[in-house]
Amino acid sequence: MNSAGSQPARALLLIAISHLLVSCSSEGEDDTALESATEPVSETDTDTVPISTDQTISFGTVRTIEMNGVVFASLPEAEVNADTATAQLGRLLFWDPVLSADMDTACATCHLPEFGYSDGRQRSAGTGGVGTGPERNPGQIGQVQRNAQTILNTVWNGINELGLFDTETAPMFWDSRVQGLANQALEPIRSREEMRGDNISLENIDAEILSRLSGNAEYQSLFDTAFGTSEITMAHVGQALADYQSTLVANNAPFDRWMRGDADAMSEQQLDGMAQFAQTGCADCHSGPMFSDFDTHVLGVREANGLDTPDSGDGSFAFRTPTLRQLEFTGPYFHGGQDNDLDDVVDFYDNPNNSENPNVANNQLDQDFRDLPNINNNRRNAIEAFLGALNDGDFDQSRPARVPSGLPVGGAL
Ligand code: HEC
Ligand code: HEC
Repeated sequence: MNSAGSQPARALLLIAISHLLVSCSSEGEDDTALESATEPVSETDTDTVPISTDQTISFGTVRTIEMNGVVFASLPEAEVNADTATAQLGRLLFWDPVLSADMDTACATCHLPEFGYSDGRQRSAGTGGVGTGPERNPGQIGQVQRNAQTILNTVWNGINELGLFDTETAPMFWDSRVQGLANQALEPIRSREEMRGDNISLENIDAEILSRLSGNAEYQSLFDTAFGTSEITMAHVGQALADYQSTLVANNAPFDRWMRGDADAMSEQQLDGMAQFAQTGCADCHSGPMFSDFDTHVLGVREANGLDTPDSGDGSFAFRTPTLRQLEFTGPYFHGGQDNDLDDVVDFYDNPNNSENPNVANNQLDQDFRDLPNINNNRRNAIEAFLGALNDGDFDQSRPARVPSGLPVGGAL
């Protein structure tokens, strides 16, 4: 029986009904304007949603409030069960360089716990590279054209302020070109710059990986147990990786705790920043529990360093709005790691009428972006303080002691 995951024909919709209870508006730019927003309480039903056959994440309450005309929503209070056969298998695969053609690069090479499951680099360096994180030297193939996205909370990609999302159609990558974590997971294995290199062709890579896995007695038995069949498929590989990544959540940031009723969780400056974030218009795009509308927008960010050809994103120089969670760990920022400093990113929004990218004319810039007001120092500091309330340092940073291939855990570094 094919269990899990290749055909998860379920529409995994989480319905969390939110009531907007607290409304708070402020027209004056410098008002803190929060007196009436100190008790954020809205009720949603607790539900249990299957992520795949034998994994469930129990969803607690999604809380919402309205402030300055913007709906803020916490992440669900999920209890993650990382102890399922598919997630455990996925964890080993994630850390095992056996998935790269030359057996030197694992998913974890570019998605490291200490960098919030990103890699601390402007642009990632895949197969053939030597070293780890920012110190890694790219090999002959060079660097990937983009900045590594965080894996944390990707189980909620696509979630909106009502708590609604669909695991199968969740947008993946900076240009949303792939849908769903399980499909996404097979892309890096096939990508020349990330894990495939030059020694095995795109045509042959799947067969090579499957023969390695089925030729390894430990993997064969783990796949057997996880999927109830002796035949290992790429769909199983993708599903196991997706199930492990679904356990990597960080949903107890000060913002979430404040939303759940802990009035001391955020400082006054952070609360001011939340109001300013709403009033400035950041939430036009950075909305919902992930602070992303999961849509693509043209911002005219300059090209990444060292690219041979411009990166046109989805083809029109639009990129997907990134989450604003975990920024403390995940710099550099923007699709090509253009800015190392969060200060510089916020300053970027101070002059939104001029494209910084020669391939993007001013009139192509997203209207919501052009409509942003000037950001004075007070506002900038407050907004940055609020971004600080979106960091949760208490996420799973564990790595397996060994992987079934016997290769170095996390790749040959
Ligand atoms: C060479 C570095 C590298 C390796 C190896 C790598 N990734 Fe990534 N990952 C990236 C980069 C860069 C992006 C953004 C790429 C883009 O937008 O085109 C990314 C994006 C992702 C995303 C999308 C997150 C989102 O919010 O859309 C997921 C999920 C992911 N990787 C998982 C994996 C898995 C699973 C593996 C192993 C099978 C893996 N990665 C291997 C660098 C890497
Ligand atoms: C029109 C939609 C839109 C608005 C409005 C907007 N952003 Fe963004 N934001 C984006 C997109 C799209 C990106 C990615 C751009 C890229 O990489 O090319 C981004 C990137 C970022 C990043 C970098 C995150 C990372 O991990 O790389 C931060 C921080 C950020 N925005 C904060 C803000 C703040 C603060 C405001 C309000 C002053 C704001 N944004 C307003 C769409 C928007």
